[in-house]
Amino acid sequence: MPGTLSVLLVGAGGAWGRPLLEQFIKQKSSFKRVAVLARDQNHAEKFSDAKAQGVEIVLGSFLDSAPYKGFDVVMSLVGNPLLRLQPAMIQAASAAGVTHFYPGEWNSDIDQPEIANMRYFRDKQATRAQCHATAQENPNFKYTIFITGIFTEWTLMFGWDHEKKSAVVFGDSSKRIGSTSIPDIARYTVDSLLIPFKADGGAFPNRRTIRAQGGSKPYGELVADLEEARGMKYSVEYRDRAEALKLQEQARQQGDEAGEMFWSIRTLPASGYGVADGVEEGKLDNDLFDFTPETQKETFERFWSGQK
Ligand SMILES: NC(=O)c1ccc[n+]([C@@H]2O[C@H](COP(=O)([O-])OP(=O)(O)OC[C@H]3O[C@@H](n4cnc5c(N)ncnc54)[C@H](OP(=O)(O)O)[C@@H]3O)[C@@H](O)[C@H]2O)c1
Repeated sequence: MPGTLSVLLVGAGGAWGRPLLEQFIKQKSSFKRVAVLARDQNHAEKFSDAKAQGVEIVLGSFLDSAPYKGFDVVMSLVGNPLLRLQPAMIQAASAAGVTHFYPGEWNSDIDQPEIANMRYFRDKQATRAQCHATAQENPNFKYTIFITGIFTEWTLMFGWDHEKKSAVVFGDSSKRIGSTSIPDIARYTVDSLLIPFKADGGAFPNRRTIRAQGGSKPYGELVADLEEARGMKYSVEYRDRAEALKLQEQARQQGDEAGEMFWSIRTLPASGYGVADGVEEGKLDNDLFDFTPETQKETFERFWSGQK
């Protein structure tokens, strides 16, 4: 049966947007329209391959209502520097008649009080607040918060030197880290549009939270998975998270936003809070979907095959 939903992706050319767009192309027949937003004709060139496979290209600014007209669903895949503009994007989309919004989430469970005020997630929290306020004003507006833990391919990245096989990590090797592979997150996300929308309820009648995760284990065991996948040993130095927080504050005082974000996120992976099932350990929504995700080790084996 041909799909009925029209979906617009904002930021589809980015690190996360690309694999998600590829998954939408694979499942295109399940949707009425799949489109990407490009800011101008030059930007649109980036999507010529997707266009050849039936993806529409809509030109315009994500701050205007016009590009959103005629779409049921909008997913925001913009990167860190643009996250602070998402509330304006939500207002414009809602005014244009969009009824289902996916804000830029796909991260750890930021409901956990221990990371709710982390600098890295500041604009994501403001975006959640805007979604909630918009839903209160417009009962037709609903939204999905997609929680996946860290992208497995990105877990051992910042602070890691894979040529020298060494790393500096701020945290503790015994703390749990949860993650999901990028292809699986793309599949979960596309499939989530094809299952019934079940709202969280209570104070959030228009919000649906989905927690899906490929696996979780102590950080040190994830490092062992990497070592086995690559067939080589790494030298990993664990330092106090307070050191990174000090560097984050220095960056803030210097007006260096990228630095603030960098040092902030360095404190997450080995903190115990970089997980999708943070609020209630083990409580996940994987069983809403009909596939088994890659384990963390399987992702490393795939990612590093041919790169050893
Ligand atoms: N949990 C994790 O480990 C993890 C890892 C990665 C990402 N994420 C999440 O995924 C989301 C996306 O992050 P990302 O790293 O993929 O971001 P990114 O690589 O910076 O991509 C952002 C995209 O937005 C596009 N863009 C910028 N201005 C635009 C405009 N005016 N109109 C349309 N598109 C525009 C950019 O296009 P140009 O390049 O052409 O400027 C770029 O393709 C974020 O919410 C992030 O937190 C999570």
